[in-house]
Amino acid sequence: MTARVTGDALQEAREILLLAPRVLVLTGAGISAESGVPTFRGPGGLWKEHRPEAVATPEAFRRDPRLVWEWYAWRREIILRCSPNAGHRVLAQWLLEREGTACLATQNVDGLHARAANGTGSPILELHGSLFRVRCTECRREAPHSDPVDTRTRESLPRCPACGGLLRPAVVWFGEPLPTDALDPAYRWAATADVTLVVGTSALVHPAAALPLVTRQRGGTILEVNPERSSLTSYARISLRGPAGEVLPALLGMREHRGV
Ligand code: OAD
Repeated sequence: MTARVTGDALQEAREILLLAPRVLVLTGAGISAESGVPTFRGPGGLWKEHRPEAVATPEAFRRDPRLVWEWYAWRREIILRCSPNAGHRVLAQWLLEREGTACLATQNVDGLHARAANGTGSPILELHGSLFRVRCTECRREAPHSDPVDTRTRESLPRCPACGGLLRPAVVWFGEPLPTDALDPAYRWAATADVTLVVGTSALVHPAAALPLVTRQRGGTILEVNPERSSLTSYARISLRGPAGEVLPALLGMREHRGV
């Protein structure tokens, strides 16, 4: 396993990607760090300041939906001030160039991959849902939602236009299953990919973290981009140790892509 961004490691990783008929890309909070979106576990990470049991479980929402909405409304506000970075952009362009031979699955709920793709890219499998969608706690209808949320009282929280039920963020909370319309295709890609490229995740949360291991068990290769070690580093053929906003343009960018 190589763990540096030397020219050789980068060149080898580019060649592996270029020769791979099918590639799955799995991203985590690290790809959005350079956009200003806080990660979960690093220095200044969200889970250092907030307890997941208080803001990211179905029990927390039943107990105090106002508090939970306040936390998600705050995260929405941060993200709405952020823009996709070079990593998101080059990945969106590369997915277009791969014309259906690569797929992106993300654990992120920030919508920055979709904003970078600007409606032109291949589908993005949002394994943990989206901060900008809501689901009715009564009729379970889902819809896009980015309006400001009035979190002053329980009564002011958003309601379902169809049945009047309380709306919740359409994100995956601890103890909840992942949406099958994202997890099933992600699993199929992991099982058939020649390479899974893992970007900016500590790979501690399952089942998302297990997807690259599925690829490896089927004889495929894991490539990683992360400034730090992750729990997948020892399984990666090459771990490019650097920020996604710098490494991904070098790894996937047009000039480099053609130059291999
Ligand atoms: P983490 O906060 O656990 O990990 C972020 C990873 O990004 C770390 O490995 C960092 O080293 C890396 N990183 C930091 N800056 C980076 C940069 N500029 N470029 C590339 N990598 C960088 O976030 P996730 O692994 O995404 O789930 O967390 C997984 C899940 O845990 C989240 O989706 C969330 C959380 O609990 C739910 O809320 C269900």
